[in-house]
Amino acid sequence: MNEKKCETILNKYNEEKGSIISILQDVQESFGYIPEDVVFWFAEKLNIPASNFFGVTTFYAQFYLKPRGKHIITACCGTACHVKGAEPIINRMRAELGIAEGEDTTTDGQFTLEKLACIGACSIAPVLIVNKKVYGGMSPNKASRMLKEYEKSSPR
Ligand code: FES
Repeated sequence: MNEKKCETILNKYNEEKGSIISILQDVQESFGYIPEDVVFWFAEKLNIPASNFFGVTTFYAQFYLKPRGKHIITACCGTACHVKGAEPIINRMRAELGIAEGEDTTTDGQFTLEKLACIGACSIAPVLIVNKKVYGGMSPNKASRMLKEYEKSSPR
């Protein structure tokens, strides 16, 4: 844990009278996710039960309790994408990236693969978003080629 980073956030919180949400936003911004030991550190410093922090992190989808990959792949699993073959694409990417069952991030921290409901681009289904760039009309082979491009740009 980086105590200096935590103290900077705590000072800001004390000066601006922020909320638990604003602390968590700052923690995520600073650490890339919400580390458990950081939550306990703030809970102790502010005399607020840690469960209050964890309650907020689990309620809002914007908070991540585990480190995320350098590249974020979002696979749409809405109806149109599902019908047009989202599942085989996801399975192929999981296999090629070696993401274990029940996990969403590669062990080397390069890729996070997450699923989302309809992203509103059904006309180009099946859709993937990689680092905020939208890829339409995907197939397992196209997804595989796309992954290789990202792997080339940051070798594992
Ligand atoms: S279902 Fe995938 S974009 Fe709408």
